Parts: sequence; structure tokens; C-alpha cells
Amino acid sequence: MKVNNSKFVISAVSDKQYPQDDLPEIALSGRSNVGKSSLINAVLNRRNLARTSQQPGKTQTLNFYLVNTDLYFVDVPGYGYAKVSKEQRQKFGEMIQDYLETRADLKGLVLLVDARHDPTVDDINMFNYALCLNIPILVVATKIDKLKKSAIGQLESKIGLSLDLTQSQVTFLPFSSETKINIDKFWKWIENSIK
Ligand code: GTP
Ligand code: MG
Repeated sequence: MKVNNSKFVISAVSDKQYPQDDLPEIALSGRSNVGKSSLINAVLNRRNLARTSQQPGKTQTLNFYLVNTDLYFVDVPGYGYAKVSKEQRQKFGEMIQDYLETRADLKGLVLLVDARHDPTVDDINMFNYALCLNIPILVVATKIDKLKKSAIGQLESKIGLSLDLTQSQVTFLPFSSETKINIDKFWKWIENSIK
């Protein structure tokens, strides 16, 4: 897909605020600080469209980004951030679950994991939960610019020890928002998921 245009549309905290034009949506989920907002900026070729931060917990709402007039990316609040209060975490949790389980426009989920580390318990839980949503899942191992070439080769089998990447709806993709390696494969997966 060629991106001619992208724009931020809304930070939503409830379903009444979600866009109503019925375009397909792709959600991006993953731990706080894993690089969701950076990936959105990288693939849309925008420096600062999605707010990124070295401080985890930056994105706290469902943020909708319109890509051309083809689809929305939905930046989901990161999980696993200890400093968010219990009540707030529960509130996010309900909003996210509600969105993921009931949104008819949702056509795929990009689940980001940090290529440098084994998936966390939160990652494993999120992945197993996502398998039940009956939508295509793209597991993106990001920040691979920080890995040696030899480690990149072993990444899929390493992550496959905790996440069952052999499931038919699951695709695995090593990525870096710095180098944008595999960006063409990323867009291929998006195109296939929304058609
Ligand atoms: P929350 O909104 O808090 O959930 O975080 P996020 O998942 O949106 O992470 P964000 O994109 O803000 O990135 C967090 C940090 O990781 C920033 O300092 C980014 O510069 C860095 N980062 C993200 N992607 C990459 C990558 O591919 N390579 C490297 N080296 N750094 C990255
Ligand atoms: Mg973010």
C-alpha cells in the first residue's frame, strides 16, 4: 500500500467516540514502551504523528489514525506498566477488551514484542487472548536494530517457545522502526487483512 495521507482522528475513551464510517481497523497492542507509536510513525513515514516517549504509559486512550481513506490504525494503551493505578488499569482493560471483542470493523491485531527479550507473562496472556478474537494476528518483534544478525536469525524460534506462532491466523515479522526493515511485508499483511 502506498501511503499518500495520514492523520490523527480521535483519542477515544468510549465507543460513542469511535469513527462511524465503517472503514477497516487494525489495532496495535503491546507492552508500554515496546514501540507501538514508533511503528505507526515509521510505517506512515511521519516523524511525530503518534506521540512517542521514553517514559512508558504515554498512550492512555484508543488513538485512531486514518491511513489514506483505506483504514484506521488504532493505537491501544500499553499493558504491563506498574505505575498506572489499579483502578485506571481496570478501566483501560475494560475499554480495550470491549473494543477488541465487539468492534465489527476490527480486521486484525498487530502484537508487538521486544526482540531483545523473551515475551513477558503479559505478552503471553495477551497473545493467547488474541487467538480467541478470530482475527489475523501479526506478531511484530521490534527494535531488531539492537540485535546482532545471528540473533535475528534465531528470533522466530526463540519467541516461538512462548507464543504459538504455528497457529494459522498468526504471522511473525521482525521489524525496526529505526531501519524500517520488512516494511513491505508489514503492508502486505495489512492489505491482506483488510480486503
Ligand atoms: P506506550 O505509548 O507507553 O505504550 O509506548 P509505545 O509502545 O507507544 O512506545 P514508543 O513508540 O513511545 O517507544 C518507546 C521507546 O522505544 C522510545 O524511546 C522509542 O524511540 C524506542 N523505540 C521504539 N521503536 C524502536 C526501534 O525499532 N528501535 C529502537 N532502537 N528504539 C525504538
Ligand atoms: Mg504509545
